[in-house]
Amino acid sequence: MSDIKPRKILVTSALPYANGSIHLGHLVEYIQTDIWVRFQKMQGHEVHYVCADDTHGTPIMLRAEKEGITPEQLIERVHAEHSADFAGFLVAFDNYYSTNSEENRELASGIYKALKANGKIATRTIEQFFDPIKNMFLPDRFIKGECPKCHAKDQYGDSCEVCGATYNPTELINPFSAVSGAAPVRKETEHYFFKLSECEEFLTSWTRSGTLQPEAANKMGEWFESGLSDWDISRDAPYFGFEIPDAPGKYFYVWLDAPIGYMASFKHLCQKAGLDFDEYWKADSNAELYHFIGKDILYFHALFWPATLQYSGYRTPTKVFAHGFLTVNGEKMSKSRGTFITAGSYLEHVKNPEYLRYYYAAKLNSTMEDIDLNLEDFVARVNSDLVGKYINIASRTAGFINKRFDGKLDPSGNNPVVAEMQAQAAVIADSYEQRDFGKALREIMRLADIANGFVAEKAPWVMAKDEAQSAALQAVCSDALEMFRLLTLYLKPILPRLATQIEAFLGGAPMDWHSVSLGLPAGHVIKSYEHLITRIDPKQIDAMIEANKESLQPAAQPHSQTRHAQHQQNEAKPASEAKATSEDSYISIEDFTKVDLRIARIVNAEHVEGAEKLLKLSLDIGEEKPRQVFAGIKSAYDPETLKGRLTVMVANLAPRKMKFGMSEGMVLAASDERGGPFILSPDSGAEPGMRVK
Ligand code: 2FM
Ligand code: ZN
Repeated sequence: MSDIKPRKILVTSALPYANGSIHLGHLVEYIQTDIWVRFQKMQGHEVHYVCADDTHGTPIMLRAEKEGITPEQLIERVHAEHSADFAGFLVAFDNYYSTNSEENRELASGIYKALKANGKIATRTIEQFFDPIKNMFLPDRFIKGECPKCHAKDQYGDSCEVCGATYNPTELINPFSAVSGAAPVRKETEHYFFKLSECEEFLTSWTRSGTLQPEAANKMGEWFESGLSDWDISRDAPYFGFEIPDAPGKYFYVWLDAPIGYMASFKHLCQKAGLDFDEYWKADSNAELYHFIGKDILYFHALFWPATLQYSGYRTPTKVFAHGFLTVNGEKMSKSRGTFITAGSYLEHVKNPEYLRYYYAAKLNSTMEDIDLNLEDFVARVNSDLVGKYINIASRTAGFINKRFDGKLDPSGNNPVVAEMQAQAAVIADSYEQRDFGKALREIMRLADIANGFVAEKAPWVMAKDEAQSAALQAVCSDALEMFRLLTLYLKPILPRLATQIEAFLGGAPMDWHSVSLGLPAGHVIKSYEHLITRIDPKQIDAMIEANKESLQPAAQPHSQTRHAQHQQNEAKPASEAKATSEDSYISIEDFTKVDLRIARIVNAEHVEGAEKLLKLSLDIGEEKPRQVFAGIKSAYDPETLKGRLTVMVANLAPRKMKFGMSEGMVLAASDERGGPFILSPDSGAEPGMRVK
């Protein structure tokens, strides 16, 4: 393996928006990238893995406004949260930065100036939608209406989720503002454009040069057929972002400076670690540059981004790797089903991040296919593969070495199973390199099966009863531990923490790929074997699902379950709860009458320590004791103003244990993109406890 030349590799994952929590959908990508990076580092290559929070744009500005803080305060808080979540899942960035940085401002301005000097910037007066209530131009994502191509209703202003068309928001039929609900008016404004239409020749050849997966290259073909439009890269104040040099009141559109954030994060790393930025980014760089992304942001990474780099004098990406979306139990992640699971919630309930890393790895390959997290299968697979097969090899053999031979190994030196396992190193490496982690794991688990077969056949627990077989027992257990070492090495990109614990137990140096042939020699002493891993109890999963079930979703948050709730892109979309009902089917009148709706008086309302969205309500429905209900209405109500009011509650909802206590029902409230939540109130005369029919 020493003949492999070290490569210089820069790797990125998409930058998550700084206005939402990391959830299991996001983690597909960060875990995928982290595994690949760890594998490349184990090969001895010089690898740098950078990322950052994507901090600019209207959703973040409006979110901060709503929370009554500055955007800077919001992004600082979220940066700390995201960093902790990634660390919790062992995603080891070499730098995790922010797009709201000086490096990014300078790079974005420099790139803009270079594009301008290259004749690739144009200004044009356009008509844009303006929200007369909010007094601001509406970003594409904050206008909804009917798709001009396929006429699907309720589509966002920049692209259609139904037919995939991209268009200008002004082309939408019957538009409305997702911020205020007002019918937007059209207003003229001068915008800056990147002349993408002039880049077609370059992009056609770039996208066909092996930089993209075959499915992605095909998608490009479709986009080229419909012709490339110039890209609008400016936004008017008020906007949270970088002001365009020499254009007061005009800001770079968030998607202009977001990918430049990859460069800025790397630049920051260069300053800290003494690396040469230009070596990686100059036009004729020999270093490799890989972007891991979700398939929904392919357009940005396979068209805008390479063109931006090419025409501003930088190198273009070596490859863009797009993955599919995550489904949970075969369906879109859903708050009502409790499958919209945040990173923090997983860690709280399941605790071990390596279980999820293992499961995702088993499901991942190099295509853009969606992957499913089936929670039953997750428990079964982790328990059977990791505990039942892999760890079992050590737990059945290490004790004999510890107790009978003072921890001293004496391998046979010619075990055919060990030889076969070593021989598969290249095949497994190739699967990792190709991002076919599922294939790598199938091979690794096949080897684990063979190793278990060896242990079962030799039955050291039987040999241990016969003193005459002592040397053979030591050799069998030493060989089994060598098999265990090799499996640990092969699994190390996926299970880095467990591998480190096992390295400590085996008492060897940290392993890289070259350690395959460096088996532990005769006379080497291992440490005493400690319990390494526990089975997942399905109850942990049930508790996690329960804790993530939301009875009432706060409205007007730019978070969503629409489109691909599993991907971070949706975090920028407004008021998307509007579509949440589409995932549930019709109910019969009988079903409806099962719901016991009652008039309730809010006798007390208070904030809940640590809850972002909830208020704790005490509701009198004529029973002896008021009901305690946690309602997601904090964004819209001062608790003081609720006290004494009448509303409607679901009285026969099974009590649910939430993080903050029992919730004994649910209050009804209206919300969609026009606002809310608005809790329902009866006409005067209604009394607490009255049945609502
Ligand atoms: O889709 C998203 O979540 C974006 N925040 C990704 C940006 S990736 C890069 F271009 F910055
Ligand atoms: Zn459409």
